Amino acid sequence: MNQTDTRQALRGKRAVVTGGSNGIGAATVAALAAEGAQVVIGYNQGQERAEALRASLPGDGHRTAHIPLDDAAAHAGLADSLARDGGQVDVLVNCAGYTTRIPHNDLERLDSRLFNEVLLANAGGTYSIMRALMPLLRKSGDAAVVSVSSVAAFTGSGSNIAYCAAKAAIDTMTLSFARAFGPQVRFLCVSPASVDTDFVPGRSRDDVRKKGEATPLGRAVTPEDVALAVVGCVTHLRTATGTRIVIDGGFTL
Ligand SMILES: NC(=O)c1ccc[n+]([C@@H]2O[C@H](COP(=O)([O-])OP(=O)(O)OC[C@H]3O[C@@H](n4cnc5c(N)ncnc54)[C@H](OP(=O)(O)O)[C@@H]3O)[C@@H](O)[C@H]2O)c1
Repeated sequence: MNQTDTRQALRGKRAVVTGGSNGIGAATVAALAAEGAQVVIGYNQGQERAEALRASLPGDGHRTAHIPLDDAAAHAGLADSLARDGGQVDVLVNCAGYTTRIPHNDLERLDSRLFNEVLLANAGGTYSIMRALMPLLRKSGDAAVVSVSSVAAFTGSGSNIAYCAAKAAIDTMTLSFARAFGPQVRFLCVSPASVDTDFVPGRSRDDVRKKGEATPLGRAVTPEDVALAVVGCVTHLRTATGTRIVIDGGFTL
């Protein structure tokens, strides 16, 4: 789909994208803005990238916000500032995340401290952001929360054991939240296999592309593919909640 041909389906809606400063999140910010949404671009260390992205977006009313995963006070502060400034959130995309590459049989390297850190940041941080923004999402009355999960959640195969566990937790939180907060808010996961970004330190883009070529669809998933899936969840999957959309080119078949 050519993004200049969009229907502006999200005109007048406000979207928050955590991890919006890079990779999949940045592509998602651009896709939501192309649909007319006003976007809050969440960043951690990439403030300059986030500001440059904001300046490149069509439309106005976009802003950037420091949304570190491990800082519940920052999540509450974001909710307060959004409540003062318009009052509702129509779309939340949970895209922030990080990992490190550890073979699953190397239990020395994935000690309990690191396990807890990765699990707490990726799953606990996502929970904390959803918790803080829930009053504003409910106020929308027709909101969608889309979490960028991973096939690692249900294959148990991924950059390390704690990362797989964190993504599985995000998947089950999606079920629980969907049951608890309908009909005002829908919850979905999009679950890619390897995406063509620098997300995993030490993993080359070439490795990702070769893996993609071996799938039934014959190519790697791009950040733009994931972004379109997220937008599709918000704009088209009107009666889907509490489920995941696997976008892996058939990798897990
Ligand atoms: N690439 C893949 O193969 C793949 C596959 C399946 C799922 N995913 C998921 O897709 C999401 C985005 O990954 P990506 O490929 O776009 O990677 P990326 O290019 O490395 O982007 C990661 C994003 O997360 C933010 N972030 C990192 N650590 C953070 C922290 N502690 N607190 C808050 N934000 C933090 C980064 O912010 P700053 O740059 O501002 O620091 C950046 O915006 C992740 O949740 C990942 O698990 C990726």
